[in-house]
Amino acid sequence: MFYYYGRRKQIAHRYPSPQYTHIIEPFAGSAAYSMYWAEQGIEREVTLIDKSEVVAIIWKYLLSAKETDIKNLPKLKTGDTLDDYQQLSKAEKFLIGFHINPGSAVPKLTVSKASRWEAGRKYIIKTLPLVRHWKFIHGDYFDADATFATWFIDPPFQCGGSHYQHQINDYNVLGDWVKSRCGQVIVCEAEPATWLPFRDLGSTVNNGGLNSAKRRKDLIWTGESDGWQPLSAPKPKVKRAQYLVEVDYSPPLPSKLFERLK
Ligand SMILES: C[S@@+](CC[C@H](N)C(=O)[O-])C[C@H]1O[C@@H](n2cnc3c(N)ncnc32)[C@H](O)[C@@H]1O
Repeated sequence: MFYYYGRRKQIAHRYPSPQYTHIIEPFAGSAAYSMYWAEQGIEREVTLIDKSEVVAIIWKYLLSAKETDIKNLPKLKTGDTLDDYQQLSKAEKFLIGFHINPGSAVPKLTVSKASRWEAGRKYIIKTLPLVRHWKFIHGDYFDADATFATWFIDPPFQCGGSHYQHQINDYNVLGDWVKSRCGQVIVCEAEPATWLPFRDLGSTVNNGGLNSAKRRKDLIWTGESDGWQPLSAPKPKVKRAQYLVEVDYSPPLPSKLFERLK
């Protein structure tokens, strides 16, 4: 919803669609995955969790902000500093601070040439009505309720995630926790992570400006390919007609019979 270091906005469409009515993001950041589906018109109950106080302050502000609050935030030009805007609350400074120097893992005070604040403001105004019912919890992923949901799990990377204020102490503990989730589980990582048997997401993202050597290869784990099943997962509901169409018949059925089956 806002500019955030490591957000998934550019590649949110590459992840599987949410199969449950409730999405939980236990490493929420700016929640690009839930926002992507909300923008597609797919309405879901959304619970966001993040340990960062800055992220918590921003989300608590956004979840109760009105369109006029965002419209009234100052227009800024290169070189301006937020220190000169005494009327801004802490939350407003953090929110603007992430946009005025994109690429920084912490909110900044001075407006850089690369500022995305005006584009960010427009985007926030457009998406504000979509998040009215979302919930934010300031806390640790480990304390999330175990409930059936689509779990979009995007922790700091095992290699290269050290820019965040909070880190993962033990990825093996996180791996066991991931496997104890109920429902649909989507885990994000990047090469060369090894704490789950990840597969290639098929996307590379430029992680270092013009330096093509710094491209990042994204990885994903969703469980199925490893034969993992969530605890007490309900049986998939497959309609008979769908099942018949999906079966690989060999030799092919005569076309008239196939039509009748459909
Ligand atoms: C890669 S970012 C998530 C980006 C997010 N998917 C987005 O699209 O903006 C990882 C987030 O995990 C949070 N985090 C780190 N350790 C955590 C913990 N133990 N529990 C909950 N959140 C944590 C960080 O504050 C950071 O916001």
